[in-house]
Amino acid sequence: MKGSEIRERFLKYFEGKGHRRMRSSSLVPEADPTLLFTNAGMVQFKNVFTGDEKLDFVRAVSSQKCLRVSGKHNDLENVGVTARHHTFFEMLGNFSFGDYFKEDAIFFGWEFLTKEMGLDKEKLWITIFDEDDEADEIWKTKIGVDPERIVRMGEKDNFWAMGDTGPCGPCSEIHIDQGEEMSCGKNCGIGLCDCDRYLELWNLVFMQFNRDQSGEMTPLPAPSIDTGMGLERIAAVVQGVKSNYDSDLFTPIIKTVEEIAGISNKDDKSGVSIRAISDHCRSQAFLIADGILPSNEGRGYVLRRIIGRAARH
Ligand code: SER
Repeated sequence: MKGSEIRERFLKYFEGKGHRRMRSSSLVPEADPTLLFTNAGMVQFKNVFTGDEKLDFVRAVSSQKCLRVSGKHNDLENVGVTARHHTFFEMLGNFSFGDYFKEDAIFFGWEFLTKEMGLDKEKLWITIFDEDDEADEIWKTKIGVDPERIVRMGEKDNFWAMGDTGPCGPCSEIHIDQGEEMSCGKNCGIGLCDCDRYLELWNLVFMQFNRDQSGEMTPLPAPSIDTGMGLERIAAVVQGVKSNYDSDLFTPIIKTVEEIAGISNKDDKSGVSIRAISDHCRSQAFLIADGILPSNEGRGYVLRRIIGRAARH
């Protein structure tokens, strides 16, 4: 299944569950001084979650352009080194604005991965927030996940916030075990290491609070749902390749870089550079398309740094 088909299957699946298909918003968040770049699908709905903006629908689905090169969510140094980090990526997400909550969000996520994408249930692992007994119960009794594959984690891993302020809440992630041959060794496991064996696929956030500048959290008008799954990751998994860079979303770019440079992505020394260049080409192209030009400050400076970094590679 091509990346473009997976994207369409996702949007269609959630349309079938009553979600409004939304266009990706710009990489430049509209009137939001707290963020340099759109870093998640929920950004365009931030004011809907807080109750400051009302929409005439309560369920939405999107494939959102995201950039994670600055601020709280910054993946830059991992790009090209790991098989799964990017500066620019697309986030598939479904959203509930005070409508459904944990149980449906978990059910939809599970059904999409196991039925629509055909992933093996036995390979899926779940993380939940330490204190979230409700999510634990749903995964165990309603979905039937083996309790041994449900892992409780602390705030760092399983409490999601968009930035220092804004909507936030506990989350539950779906990971896939990519097999022992991907293991980094004896102490390999979810929360124990950072290797590519257990790949986080989908983050289901149970939006419940709004955090203000002093760090105080007040309940949102209604519990809501914000989920995000990297298109590049699910594409690699569905296509049976061990690296996002080997999925069809990247191979044409990699091939072009290899041809121009006369070296191979599978070469240990050049591989990181070829992958970093391929990643950076995508972020540069989408940033420029969204109206940013290289400059000495703000967003333009980040773009300039990405171009410089690709050039050094
Ligand atoms: N906002 C959450 C994330 O970025 C889920 O989409 O992981």
